[in-house]
Amino acid sequence: MFPSSTITTCPRPAAGSTCFPPETDIPSTPAIRHGEDVPRSRPGAGAPRPPLAAAVDPGESAGIEAELRRAPRSFRILTGDRPTGPLHLGHYFGTLQNRVRLQDLGADVLVLVADYQVITDRDAGAGLGAHVLGLVADYLAAGIDPGRATIFAHSQVSALNQLMLPFLSLLSVAEVGRNPTVREEFSATGGATMSALMFTYPVHQAADILACRANLVPVGKDQLPHVELTRTIARRFNERYSPARPFFKPPDPLLGVAPLLLGLDGQKMSKSRRNSIPLAATEDETARLIKAARTDAERRISYDPAGRPEVASLVLLAALCQRRAPADVAADIGGGGAARLKATVTESVNEYLRPLRARRRELAADRPYLQAVLRRGNDRASAVAAGTLRSVHELMHMAY
Ligand code: TRP
Repeated sequence: MFPSSTITTCPRPAAGSTCFPPETDIPSTPAIRHGEDVPRSRPGAGAPRPPLAAAVDPGESAGIEAELRRAPRSFRILTGDRPTGPLHLGHYFGTLQNRVRLQDLGADVLVLVADYQVITDRDAGAGLGAHVLGLVADYLAAGIDPGRATIFAHSQVSALNQLMLPFLSLLSVAEVGRNPTVREEFSATGGATMSALMFTYPVHQAADILACRANLVPVGKDQLPHVELTRTIARRFNERYSPARPFFKPPDPLLGVAPLLLGLDGQKMSKSRRNSIPLAATEDETARLIKAARTDAERRISYDPAGRPEVASLVLLAALCQRRAPADVAADIGGGGAARLKATVTESVNEYLRPLRARRRELAADRPYLQAVLRRGNDRASAVAAGTLRSVHELMHMAY
């Protein structure tokens, strides 16, 4: 789907570079001080270390991985989440851990709280503000370090949102309508109740990425079409407004191989299905959730993702938390049946998450700190996006 581009390194700061013009390069300012009692994350401190799940897709992403190790500082990485509820273990092992790894490698990591994307949903619930600060607490507790990474909400970055207008002009209605997520939503609603913002949200997501001049976007498979659209917009902008010296570098997706954790009901794990274990859950809640998980009647526990998906997912969860191979964990449980399996999973999850949860509790009690982290991230993202918009206006002959 994507040309197998080797990443061209775009050193920062790079005077005269078309990749990161100097005006978009905002040095990180010192970290905000938080009450002495909350240990701030540093590499190697506090946050659980990524165990088995940091692998990426072989092939295309393997080249990027090598480059990440060779020249981490040439990467500006954007990832993010919709603030629709607390993050869960699927997010943790699927993406959060990888973000912390990229940050610790030395890449410039920006983490986006995609609040405007929430209002594209048909059933966008209340409590957006609480979800936003909850997300910030989840990020920090998981090991995102506000002294090195940037956490921001895209509603607070005016220049980013303005970029959506020139970008919309580069696409046809038919093209936007071919985006799989948009198409699915259209067929689910017949278009009648689908908002026009929902229709254009992949373009808004492209604005997120290009406003930040991100060159790498870690995503799940479902987000690949959005990155592809972003690349199209970048190329078209360059062709139309800056043919001699391409301005936007089309970003690369980084496909992580998220471990196949199913929800506790055996379905796809998702916030809205209430079939996941929130990072912020208490130990008792965790025990209750796991107790209700689906298993099967066979007493001997094995790791067989194809044949026994629900049992395998529980074994995998315990294995990730114990940093061991799933087959070994299954062998330990042996003929102990579902009860022993669930007890093992509960203990493993609670033990693994204990330090993260302790940090999260302290963070959640310090709302001003969470707001300060977000404001500082918003300021940095705004400075970067304003630089991008200024260059875009100049290239479009709109700098008056
Ligand atoms: N659409 C993403 C999701 O639902 C969130 C998101 C918004 C995002 N903007 C982004 C992810 C930019 C990566 C880059 O998970």
